[in-house]
Amino acid sequence: MKVLIVGIGALGGTIAARAINAGVPVRLATRSTESAGVLRRSGLRVSGIGGDACAVSVDVAPVADYGKGDEFDLILLATKAQDALDIAPRLRPLLAPDGILLPIQNGGVARMLADRLGEDKVLGGFSNLGATMVQPGIYEQKNAGHLLIGELAGGESERADRVARELGRAIEVRVSPNLTGAIWSKLLINCSVTTLGALSAQTMRQYMETEAGRRMFCNTYAETLSVALAIGARPERLAVEPIPPGWDGNGPADGRYESWIDGIVAFYGDVKPSMLQDFERGRKTEIDFINGYVVSIARQCSVHTPVNAAIVETVHAITRGQLAPDPSLLELIMQASQ
Ligand SMILES: NC(=O)c1ccc[n+]([C@@H]2O[C@H](COP(=O)([O-])OP(=O)(O)OC[C@H]3O[C@@H](n4cnc5c(N)ncnc54)[C@H](OP(=O)(O)O)[C@@H]3O)[C@@H](O)[C@H]2O)c1
Repeated sequence: MKVLIVGIGALGGTIAARAINAGVPVRLATRSTESAGVLRRSGLRVSGIGGDACAVSVDVAPVADYGKGDEFDLILLATKAQDALDIAPRLRPLLAPDGILLPIQNGGVARMLADRLGEDKVLGGFSNLGATMVQPGIYEQKNAGHLLIGELAGGESERADRVARELGRAIEVRVSPNLTGAIWSKLLINCSVTTLGALSAQTMRQYMETEAGRRMFCNTYAETLSVALAIGARPERLAVEPIPPGWDGNGPADGRYESWIDGIVAFYGDVKPSMLQDFERGRKTEIDFINGYVVSIARQCSVHTPVNAAIVETVHAITRGQLAPDPSLLELIMQASQ
């Protein structure tokens, strides 16, 4: 299988280093000629969970240098979400007739790409594998996670199994017959746990100690779940069942709800959201593909999502430098969305 990995950052670099080390013949694409030169000289090295691996000689070029004569069976798209949307149309001509684009961003990216390029060209995927880039060429794997891939339309497929077999030589890859359900399960957590942590600059355990934090979590989760169910997605179990006990279509109406929340806090209570790092480093966030994606799908199916909409606006205001992450933002968003 001829494989191209586009975006050699934390995740792309980690996967590329493990793939080359395992003898999978991958080629790599960076954004710029300079970064390709740096990686060609440094090679790739990954440490951390999963053990050390290195690739001394890497076949890497800027993405613009790929063109005539290049044809790939699989293009793994490991850029941030907005870059994935921007670059994907230029990658399509690089696909072999049965070639597949595999985006691994969170949220709505895979669905949006499939809508633009055709479902036959796009396999859904996202990463439960966590990694950081120490510097270009040097990566650290942070957990024993895996890539989850599958058909966005659901069901089994030969091509998903084929991709899993090939990439599975390097990293753990699982195939889901309900990938869209799995994507929405992760969205439920990203929207209501990770984004709120970034806005408040607190862990979930901390903001759930406050009245506003608790109400924000409950309302954001309820809105996101209503959208998932309205489009027929079947979210899968993560740390807890995705549908709270006693769910009546709008929110919980059952005494078991509190212990269901405790299950989420036990699992995600101490996670530091990567969006908070985006704020700290003045980088653009992926909010439009997380809570923003939920809001755009909600409009199409006439579900009301005022809390998610206010979250998106607040995140953009932070990115513009008009606000700063702070616990008080959760109360402000609650008020703005009433
Ligand atoms: N890291 C994780 O643990 C993790 C876990 C789960 C999901 N994810 C998701 O996976 C995606 C990638 O995350 P990441 O942490 O690996 O991000 P990252 O470290 O920022 O890496 C993205 C890479 O893509 C490159 N890139 C951007 N535009 C490009 C283009 N047009 N052509 C070629 N390369 C391009 C960037 O290069 P420049 O530096 O030159 O812009 C950068 O090297 C994100 O959507 C993230 O949310 C990450």
